Amino acid sequence: MDTSTDIIARRPGPSVQDVLSRDPIAAPAVLRAESPPLNPSTEDVSAERYFSRAWHDREVERVWRRTWQFACRVEELAQVGDQVVYDIVDDSLLIVRTAAGNGADTIKAYVNSCLHRGTMLRTEAGNAKQIRCPFHGWTWTLDGKLAVLPGQWDFPQVDKAKFCLPEAQVGLWGGFVFVNLDPACEPFEAYLENLPDHFEAFQLENRYVAAHVAKVMPCNWKLGMEAFIEAYHVGTAHPQVTGYYGDTNTQYDVWPGVRHVSRMISVQGVPSPGRAAMTPAQTVEEMRRDVPFFAGKPIALADGEDARPALAARAREKIGRSSGRDMSDLSDSEALDLIEYLLFPNMVPWGGQALPITYRFRPNGNDPDSHIMEIMFLFAKAPDGSHPAPAKMRMLGPDQDWKDAPELGSAAMVADQDTDNLRRIQKGLKASRKPGVTLARYQESRIRHFHETLDAYMAG
Ligand code: FES
Ligand SMILES: [Fe+2]
Repeated sequence: MDTSTDIIARRPGPSVQDVLSRDPIAAPAVLRAESPPLNPSTEDVSAERYFSRAWHDREVERVWRRTWQFACRVEELAQVGDQVVYDIVDDSLLIVRTAAGNGADTIKAYVNSCLHRGTMLRTEAGNAKQIRCPFHGWTWTLDGKLAVLPGQWDFPQVDKAKFCLPEAQVGLWGGFVFVNLDPACEPFEAYLENLPDHFEAFQLENRYVAAHVAKVMPCNWKLGMEAFIEAYHVGTAHPQVTGYYGDTNTQYDVWPGVRHVSRMISVQGVPSPGRAAMTPAQTVEEMRRDVPFFAGKPIALADGEDARPALAARAREKIGRSSGRDMSDLSDSEALDLIEYLLFPNMVPWGGQALPITYRFRPNGNDPDSHIMEIMFLFAKAPDGSHPAPAKMRMLGPDQDWKDAPELGSAAMVADQDTDNLRRIQKGLKASRKPGVTLARYQESRIRHFHETLDAYMAG
């Protein structure tokens, strides 16, 4: 049996590729290809990985201390001496711009712990010419060399030349700074696999962080992330969007031999296949109702005109105006669709221009029952590269909802609907007498793919 054909045939409604083939402005080649899973497993995935402390501890050793992780954006490190703290469970890194330039060698990631008695060198971002411990004043140059040792006469055992700050590895891609704590890790470029090729069209290096909001979520980091890499739950959990969002015909891609990257594409400006009776005018109306981006002046449809091209035209106009760039040849798909990638373990960058989101999901310290979710919006820089100051992260309080961050627009309503479900999943999984979770073969194939990679890392 040809499993791939079988899976495609089972999806109801027009495929993403059917929709894209009718668009007036054609999508880039990477969006015109698909790669469904071949012969996917249908085994359950163990549930203890979502709440066991032993699993968490092993994950720290085998995932968080071994994988490449997105730590911050380069625009947070614009000036020499700019410093950002990246915390992952009990590890902390101080990311420092040591020189001007665009190479990874101009940024260092130091273990954020004083070599005297262990004090964290910094607890928050800032700029300084040196790295000075606040306890007794041991001070390092930006290059990590011990420069000042107060009362050196009392430390005959300390050879200053040997007290350089230990470093993690640094990689740069798409305007993101990545770090890896493992000195023997896979080279960064190899780890990224097909991601840079796919993002060539989307130019994340020409964006800046326009909004950055975080919240402690009531579930394991993997459960949180999984809720954002499938659209199978949309019809039940977010039914309001089905008038203008193709949920059940979402395209899921995993590529043979690719371990760290997966993708989904959901079309917008067309109704869900389950709501085929929608008229184009109703689709426009419901999209304008929910998505502030499309509110404002009315969108009139000519006789027989479909909603999607009209909405794409409006999106091009607005994105062009706000970025100061000519967006007149931006494809309908990039102007409207949800084009979402995952880079293992925890980064979810979006392509296209419609929803310039990047998500990150991190454990909340050593608590397997909660995590820190972040939503970032990456807007295009002006054509000359200038941009407003990058947004500082706004940490929502325990009693705040995502909707308390108005800068997130319609993404906040959706995230709030997911938060309630995620709390239930975390508790429900612990109450369950079933040892594993059951996954859809196609629509949850990215979750399957993620766990196959996770299992490989966990096995060492
Ligand atoms: S602990 Fe840092 S100088 Fe003493
Ligand atoms: Fe959701």
